[in-house]
Amino acid sequence: MTRTFIHGGTVVSATGSQPLDVLVDGETVVAVLHPGSTALGADLAAAADRVLDATGKYVIPGGVDGHTHMQMPFGGTEASDTFATGTRAAAWGGTTTIVDFVVQKPGERVQDTLGSWHQKAAGQCAVDYGFHQIIGEVDDESLKGMSELVAEGVTSFKLFMAYPGVFYSTDGQILRAMQSAAGLGALLMMHAENGIAIDVLVEQALARGDTAPYFHGTTRPWQMEEEATHRAIMLAQLTGAPLYVVHVSAGQALAQIATARDAGQNVFGETCPQYLYLSLEEHLAAPGFEGAKWVCSTPLRSRAEGHQEELWRYLRTGDVATVSTDHCPFCMKDQKDMGIGDFSKIPNGIGGVEHRMDLMFQGVQSGQISLERWVEVCCTTPARMFGMYPRKGVISPGADADIVIYDPRGHTSIGLGKTHHMNMDYSAYEGFEIDGHVDTVLSRGRVIVDDGAYLGSIGHGRFVKRQLSQNLI
Ligand code: URP
Ligand code: ZN
Ligand code: ZN
Repeated sequence: MTRTFIHGGTVVSATGSQPLDVLVDGETVVAVLHPGSTALGADLAAAADRVLDATGKYVIPGGVDGHTHMQMPFGGTEASDTFATGTRAAAWGGTTTIVDFVVQKPGERVQDTLGSWHQKAAGQCAVDYGFHQIIGEVDDESLKGMSELVAEGVTSFKLFMAYPGVFYSTDGQILRAMQSAAGLGALLMMHAENGIAIDVLVEQALARGDTAPYFHGTTRPWQMEEEATHRAIMLAQLTGAPLYVVHVSAGQALAQIATARDAGQNVFGETCPQYLYLSLEEHLAAPGFEGAKWVCSTPLRSRAEGHQEELWRYLRTGDVATVSTDHCPFCMKDQKDMGIGDFSKIPNGIGGVEHRMDLMFQGVQSGQISLERWVEVCCTTPARMFGMYPRKGVISPGADADIVIYDPRGHTSIGLGKTHHMNMDYSAYEGFEIDGHVDTVLSRGRVIVDDGAYLGSIGHGRFVKRQLSQNLI
């Protein structure tokens, strides 16, 4: 077994930062030591097979991205990253675990859909992966399936208040699924937008001739997100289900979450870098069909309305618990362009699995969040939220040696032809400059990225059988 000694760096956890050395034996962290405090450190360095010098750099747990969609059939096409390309891009960006969504459509057994997602991912991933289950049809059969899935390490279930005719659940179905989740102790994840009302706004916009990508945003106003978030919170309160609201983009929706949390309810908010950095005016409103690059749901919000600043604020206060990517990439050619002349036909989704750690570190550099909060929202809380702690999300003895050496004096230019390994023909973050750099990435003790070289391999990533959430109040 390879022994790796990482020395000279500052280990950053969710609770603090200090100069520490890390010893890895095989796939596992075996010791975290104060440098020079004992002769042991020197002995360990001498006995190591590989010594990584992290002087002047941060040593952090590998990123945990709790929301991705690799090769997901959606919007009349399929997300353009396979498990192989998407997890390789994740590795490049310092993310060493993803949790992807299995999709159940009406007429399918949830257990069968989980089996087919296992087939797609097995032997294909560069980093470790787990699964959530989307329940597209809540009925007796799928509700029964939930308990079997929990036993198989799929302990969270996503429902949709949006997308009528696709994934949409009625309030009655949501209530039933929440009752089951509460009984199992499983996490209920919610796409909170009032899809019925949104579809009317979409129909009216198209009838007016408002067909450009910009109108994707205006037909999904924040009131639709706030209302659905409130309704989901009330149903969760009634049933006792822990609720995780995915991809929150409206400040008002987060205010609902904050109120519920203040009242002691198990309600958690997730946001994504696109909602912190991008906007309706600057991106969705781009000339011609360009705005299609940023069509996703919930939509990018107006900067003039102040949502981005509200999201950063809620990130600091803890009401945003996690930052995931909702990585759901589509190319402009042959995918997004299906919506030329009708924004409602643009496949919804943005790719970003490669850039989350960098984009959120830029939030540290700009003073929006602390260094520790960066690690907390990108690594530790997602691991706890989705039942993978302390194996993932922390550098401590016994944990998987998923470790990133991050250089705060390095630089990363994001864009096509630069740091882009995702299978997309554009970058949603083209031109972004990051004051930091992912130098080295270890996945279960193996160096998979080092100094601009990719050393990983397809099939290294393993399925993570998850516990129930460890983040409940
Ligand atoms: O636009 C999005 N978010 N696409 C992915 C599917 C979802 O709702 O998460
Ligand atoms: Zn969603
Ligand atoms: Zn999603």
